Amino acid sequence: MKRVISTMGLLAIASWFVMPVAASAAEKAIGDVVNGRIIYQNGKGDDVPACQGCHQADGLGNDEVGTPRLAYQIDSYILKQLKDFAEDQRTDDTMYQMNDIAKALTEKEMRDLAAYVHTLKTPYIGSNLDQLRRDGADVGDPYKGKMIAEYGAPDHGVPACQSCHGFHGRSAGRMYPAVGGQNYVYLKHELESFRNGAHKYGSKTLSDEELKNKEDNERTNDYMGQMRAVAKNLTDEDIQNVAAFLTLAKPTTPGNPRSPSRQ
Ligand code: HEC
Ligand code: HEC
Repeated sequence: MKRVISTMGLLAIASWFVMPVAASAAEKAIGDVVNGRIIYQNGKGDDVPACQGCHQADGLGNDEVGTPRLAYQIDSYILKQLKDFAEDQRTDDTMYQMNDIAKALTEKEMRDLAAYVHTLKTPYIGSNLDQLRRDGADVGDPYKGKMIAEYGAPDHGVPACQSCHGFHGRSAGRMYPAVGGQNYVYLKHELESFRNGAHKYGSKTLSDEELKNKEDNERTNDYMGQMRAVAKNLTDEDIQNVAAFLTLAKPTTPGNPRSPSRQ
């Protein structure tokens, strides 16, 4: 009897430690990570090429072809983008593939893929800005970009990015994606696309007719026009500066995160 009791006691203690972890892991995954990995690495049938062919095995994306980092991105944000591509709410005008790829995925597969990329713990590396400069890209000043990320540009109506995207753009809540550590070419392209969308449509949701007539380089899939309202006041220089800062921004920093330093 004594032995039984002590075994049960041990079990109780063990489950006390194990259960909360298991429960929170189950709560977090919005899909089947294993199935997501299979599609990510191998594609599916003739219609879905392997995601890693363009987004890299580690999910880091690639400046040379303009693909974004997907690693560790908020899963619900990834799911939303895949749905938006499938419904032509958003257009891939970089490689013109994402819309067809998303249309060939079921919602379950989108969930599985979102769950998988969220588990990729690739370190935040960001773009090689010196290389991009050598290649002739317009690259801004990260020091000036840090000011915009933290304080905005109040003189021309730009709010601080961190008020929605969190410190160093590391993401916040379910709605605000990580933009820190994102690739420079992609960041610049998306900010320009939101600005194009804002100039033509303001912050409203587009009607079916407007969606049909929308240009490829106009991004208008942001809920309630939140990002268009920000991007409409960004100058070309602001975009280059803030993208240069964000690509290098780490989700955590030792020391005083408020003292700006040249990168
Ligand atoms: C042929 C290259 C290619 C392949 C293959 C590809 N992608 Fe993409 N993907 C892109 C490009 C380019 C973009 C950027 C589109 C833009 O905004 O112009 C993108 C954007 C995305 C985004 C938006 C990310 C964000 O931060 O908003 C998601 C999500 C995504 N891809 C998921 C996937 C998944 C999942 C697969 C595999 C099923 C996949 N991609 C396969 C090229 C590719
Ligand atoms: C009022 C809140 C808000 C503020 C302030 C804000 N954003 Fe956003 N941002 C959003 C939302 C919401 C989205 C997601 C849109 C969607 O669902 O497609 C987004 C998306 C983005 C994206 C696209 C991410 C991707 O992976 O495709 C970039 C880049 C971005 N924001 C950069 C910025 C920058 C730079 C600033 C500061 C100048 C900023 N944001 C300020 C709300 C905000």
